Amino acid sequence: MTNRYCVFGHPVAHSKSPAIHAAFAAQTGETIEYTAIEAPLDDFAGAWRRFVAEGGRGANVTVPFKEEAFRLCDTLSERAQRAGAVNTLILGGNGATYGDTTDGVGLVRDLVRSGVTLAGARVLVLGAGGAVRGVLEPLLAEGPANLVVANRTAAKAEALAADFRELGDIEGGGFDAVAGPFDLVINGTSASLAGDLPPLPDDLFAPGATAYDMMYGAEPTVFLRWAGERGARTADGLGMLVEQAAESFYQWRGKRPDTAPVLAELRRGLEA
Ligand code: ATR
Repeated sequence: MTNRYCVFGHPVAHSKSPAIHAAFAAQTGETIEYTAIEAPLDDFAGAWRRFVAEGGRGANVTVPFKEEAFRLCDTLSERAQRAGAVNTLILGGNGATYGDTTDGVGLVRDLVRSGVTLAGARVLVLGAGGAVRGVLEPLLAEGPANLVVANRTAAKAEALAADFRELGDIEGGGFDAVAGPFDLVINGTSASLAGDLPPLPDDLFAPGATAYDMMYGAEPTVFLRWAGERGARTADGLGMLVEQAAESFYQWRGKRPDTAPVLAELRRGLEA
């Protein structure tokens, strides 16, 4: 029987996950089928149950279902518990559903791949929504000197930082309280989608600093353009997308794909 996997989202038609996993499967010699499924907004659990009944072995979960996926799991990885979200579902041999989140480890691997040293770094993370909650634990595990979470709604950043305080030096607040310099600034807000730029001071970046946007597109986001003009090295979230997929693939198939050629191919496709 074919090993069936999918990505659930809404919308999901433009997801790059099927192409990424097809490339991983070809590279590692695994025989899998990986499709994109648009789950109904009011019945994510039903969509997963139906997929399992049709032979599904695992799934990726994207917007807006990561929290619902978290709630339906029978067991969860520690990192998924802390993230409060699941992007990887795995069907256990006993029929139980296990949930994991690979977004944070995907971000950290992409940062390391692009030459960022996290140990001892001064790190600023913009945003305090689900996307940011999902990456804080793996970032703190790398041992930054400190991590500041800044958000339009300051109280959300303060609450989020409080949830992670036992894992490292982390504080939260509003954009107005942000004082650099930072070695790494990660934009985890959805402001880029609207072409908005969070209000930030001009002297945010230390020499040699990196600006990273968890979003990606054919053109640099408004945040990356702004950061580049102020001397920062810039990177978008396409690499994070490929790395989180590779970690999901590893969870399902026990094989680690080589991400570099897959990322290069995706980049060519974006720019075409
Ligand atoms: P996600 O799952 O992408 O994190 P979310 O949980 O809705 O989505 O969070 C969106 C984040 O982007 C929040 O931090 C939000 O700020 P608020 O908490 O103040 O709403 C931030 N955000 C969205 N639009 C923004 C904008 N135009 N400027 C600045 N921040 C913005």
